[in-house]
Amino acid sequence: MRIIRHDRNHPFVVKLEELPGFDKLTSDDKVLKYEIHLCACGLSHHKPFCDGSHAKTKTEEEGKLYAYDENDQMHALKKEYE
Ligand code: FES
Repeated sequence: MRIIRHDRNHPFVVKLEELPGFDKLTSDDKVLKYEIHLCACGLSHHKPFCDGSHAKTKTEEEGKLYAYDENDQMHALKKEYE
């Protein structure tokens, strides 16, 4: 078992057009001009991609620590942490 703390509640957005070398692609290659959303909350069931599960973190209160079980149920572990 491993415990990992995630503080971020929204994905990392990778815009392919901003990656180094994108300007060197041919126009046919640039059909890949879209965004990839990578999970940063740790709750996605389709990692490394965001599946919207981060919405469950929206009710978390600042300064409290939470855990999510295998049924995606949220549990507050402590009232405060530093
Ligand atoms: S950031 Fe984790 S599911 Fe969206």
